Amino acid sequence: MTAAPALDPAEVARWVPVCDLAALQPERGVAALLDGTQVAIFRLAAGTVAAIGNRDPFSGANVLSRGIVGTRGDADVVFSPMYKQAFDLSTGQCLDDPEVAVPSYPVRVVDDVVHLGVR
Ligand code: FES
Repeated sequence: MTAAPALDPAEVARWVPVCDLAALQPERGVAALLDGTQVAIFRLAAGTVAAIGNRDPFSGANVLSRGIVGTRGDADVVFSPMYKQAFDLSTGQCLDDPEVAVPSYPVRVVDDVVHLGVR
């Protein structure tokens, strides 16, 4: 299950509003439904917002939004609460297994509302 590469913002067909920025606590994730798919949305310490798929590919559970946010090298990551693999929050790449990635989603914040981009 190698995931598609991160969607280039230039390829976004539409932006879907998902929540108010104020609903996101720094360094915490929330789960949202995007066209029936679970997405994990994180507000990072720097104030930016990142979104990746919520489903942990190792366990099959929708839990990445409940993982611990941190860094590995230069990358902002979330550690799966199941088996602790690190996922890069900008690309969805699993840093512990080069063959595994989850989807990543472009994010923009307009008038304090978080939008996710879809093709
Ligand atoms: S082929 Fe599915 S994780 Fe590698």
